[in-house]
Amino acid sequence: MGVLIKGGTIVTAERTYRGDIYTEGETIKAIGENLEVPSNTETVDAGGCYVMPGGIDPQTHMQLPFMGTSAVDDFYTGTTAMMTGGTTMLIDFVIPGPQVPLMEAYKTWRGWGEKSSADYSFHVAVTWWDDSVYNDMRTLATEYGVNSFKHFLAYKGAIMADDEILIKSFENAKDLGALVTIHAENGELVSHLQQKYLKEGMTGPEAHPLSRPPEVEGEATNRAIRIAEMIGVPVYIVHTSSKDALDAVVAARLRGQTVFSESLSQHLVIDDSVYRDKDWRTAAHHVMSPPFRPKKHQDALWAGIQSGMIQTTATDHCSFTTDQKMMGRDDFTKIPNGTGGLEDRMTILWDQGVNTGRLTMNQFVAVTSSNAAKIFNIYPKKGALMTGADADIIVWDPEATRTISAKTHHQKVDFNLFEGMNVKGVNRATLSRGEVTYLDGDVRAKRGAGRYINRPCNAPFVEATRKRHEYLQQKPVERS
Ligand code: URP
Ligand code: ZN
Repeated sequence: MGVLIKGGTIVTAERTYRGDIYTEGETIKAIGENLEVPSNTETVDAGGCYVMPGGIDPQTHMQLPFMGTSAVDDFYTGTTAMMTGGTTMLIDFVIPGPQVPLMEAYKTWRGWGEKSSADYSFHVAVTWWDDSVYNDMRTLATEYGVNSFKHFLAYKGAIMADDEILIKSFENAKDLGALVTIHAENGELVSHLQQKYLKEGMTGPEAHPLSRPPEVEGEATNRAIRIAEMIGVPVYIVHTSSKDALDAVVAARLRGQTVFSESLSQHLVIDDSVYRDKDWRTAAHHVMSPPFRPKKHQDALWAGIQSGMIQTTATDHCSFTTDQKMMGRDDFTKIPNGTGGLEDRMTILWDQGVNTGRLTMNQFVAVTSSNAAKIFNIYPKKGALMTGADADIIVWDPEATRTISAKTHHQKVDFNLFEGMNVKGVNRATLSRGEVTYLDGDVRAKRGAGRYINRPCNAPFVEATRKRHEYLQQKPVERS
């Protein structure tokens, strides 16, 4: 049975126009007015609403084993919650522990992913190095649809990659036509500052941002970008949280380097005052890396999005419950790092972006969906409303309001960082590859209905990056 989305205004990254959409099977079959459709078609009334591509969250961590525990939202609860909020695909991370073969870790995550109710894909982290890692990167890129490899410059003693690993992995990624992605914080400095504050008797969450100041992020962002520039590989900076990091991105883009960056919905609206909350639990709920920053950094991030220097928005959804956060009651370095947001990202970006005039509706679609699809090379299958594209579609009511709360959210975690925030602009309906998975409060998502999405290497910007790099290389002097 097909679905007709009728009476709405279509909004894509490029344009806004009146039109109905008819989906058949998993894809969009027709767009236009007065469409002729079979009699058994289900109709979704989109009167007064905007019809947009489903969101793509390019950075999440479902059920991630991390810091002695595991993130509480799994691939089923996470993907189901995100579809209620208007996101129809996520890209999660395979993170092998030290010495764990990449292929083994990848297969573990693929197994976990099978319960997803929405489509998903994987970046794979390079956390250590030997010949098997080199070979597994090649297998993943050529046979398993992985076109992005992640590098953590933080988390010393666990998953941190040093410069030698970066250079080797970046070279390999470049040869494969893949993208390298970066968690940019200087792990050595973080470790040094953590010990310093603990020695000074600062054991509470207020020491967390002090141990990871913007300078630590700025240095690592610049270093990763410069190494990528030397090697000639495109680079994507995840969760850019500070002006310091953004300055490094902007400088590189102005040099003509292929650098992408991402901002989290949480960093856009929450500042570092949360770490000084009198209630230890509330402060600990906000422990994530990079941490929340003073307000001036939020202004820089918004300006980065508005100007196109930041292309995507994500959540880094890695949710730990209050009980899990209590693991660090006496030592802030043991509080599991991570926060949630994947159910609310779209509404936050609309309420704080479109409603405030910072973003046009078309920019909203670009930064919540289409740009991620382009950068990770799945456009226009995803992130687009056109015939033949996957029918991942949302119906957005710009006049509807709601109050965000853990009491009503669908995520498994027992608190919500946006608790009490009143937002205007709410998702009414979600289609995932043609199936209505959410409609006016009715959650119809099905466990296991999501599909793994292959992402081929050699996105259009890869060849351009390679050519520019070759052009800038010094040639040997020809002597007779
Ligand atoms: O604190 C965070 N961000 N936790 C998830 C892992 C990561 O660093 O992305
Ligand atoms: Zn990270």
